[in-house]
Amino acid sequence: MKIKRKLLIWYKKNGRDLPWRKTRDPYKILVSEVMLQQTQVPRVLLYYKKWLKRFPNWSALARATNADVIREWAGLGYNRRALALRDIAKNFRYRLLKPVSSQDWQTFKGIGPYTAAALAVFTRTERVMPIDTNIRRVLGRLLLGNPWPDPKLDEKLQARAEPMIRGKNFDLIPQALFDLATSICKKVPDCALCPLRNDCPAAKTFLSGTMKTPNALIKKSNENIHRNKKFPDRIYRGRILRLVQESSRALRVSQIGSMIDTTFDSSLDQPWLEAMIGRLEADQFIKRQGRTIRLY
Ligand code: ADE
Repeated sequence: MKIKRKLLIWYKKNGRDLPWRKTRDPYKILVSEVMLQQTQVPRVLLYYKKWLKRFPNWSALARATNADVIREWAGLGYNRRALALRDIAKNFRYRLLKPVSSQDWQTFKGIGPYTAAALAVFTRTERVMPIDTNIRRVLGRLLLGNPWPDPKLDEKLQARAEPMIRGKNFDLIPQALFDLATSICKKVPDCALCPLRNDCPAAKTFLSGTMKTPNALIKKSNENIHRNKKFPDRIYRGRILRLVQESSRALRVSQIGSMIDTTFDSSLDQPWLEAMIGRLEADQFIKRQGRTIRLY
């Protein structure tokens, strides 16, 4: 039996029922893809439908202010994604020729090769494989026998994956690969449970028990953590933003430190706080007026 058929049988039984898998509307697909960048599925599920109620289509989102989108996005993290999404919606409205292929989608600022491919394949307008870290890992192992494939292999993987997306349910193949990647073909995979283990050259090595995760792959975070702080700066920036959102009036900067961190010590942490406020201001989430800040 062919790989794609085994995969689809497995997917029918084990695949996740996710709301963005039931639509071909590019707007809704883009919303899901942007939310899924750096945020896990269970968390995205809490936001996706609410977002679509508030901003049901491109034009509703295009009209939204920074404050509108930040309010709806609050808690998902990486707030710049929300503004980028709104800017794509604004741009979309001016396009006389609506995008169809992954190439068309890549002409939008903020849409890279992966998201463009996801839009094209999930709207069923192009047979193309959206290669993110998860799909790269599965296909690298399955098609190249490479247990830890590098993004440099994407072009080769795209070509080698072409026979997998020839059939009529081609859009389900990447969906199935996402699910296989998170449940079985994880960084350290459970090859014994995999429906494709007999087709996969990497499975043989993994199952032999001789494979060791290379140290270089145990990824170091590139996030900033200040002094004695427990979390990366982005968590504290999120807290500042939430305080500003929840406050009906402008907020005094001098009050903020102890509200975002119980160990805040102004003699050591004031420059850190100022830098985070500066970053939120530069990203147009907040406005500073002298000693106070408020929502942009
Ligand atoms: N990650 C990115 N796109 C996804 C999708 N459609 N389903 C599950 N995880 C994803």
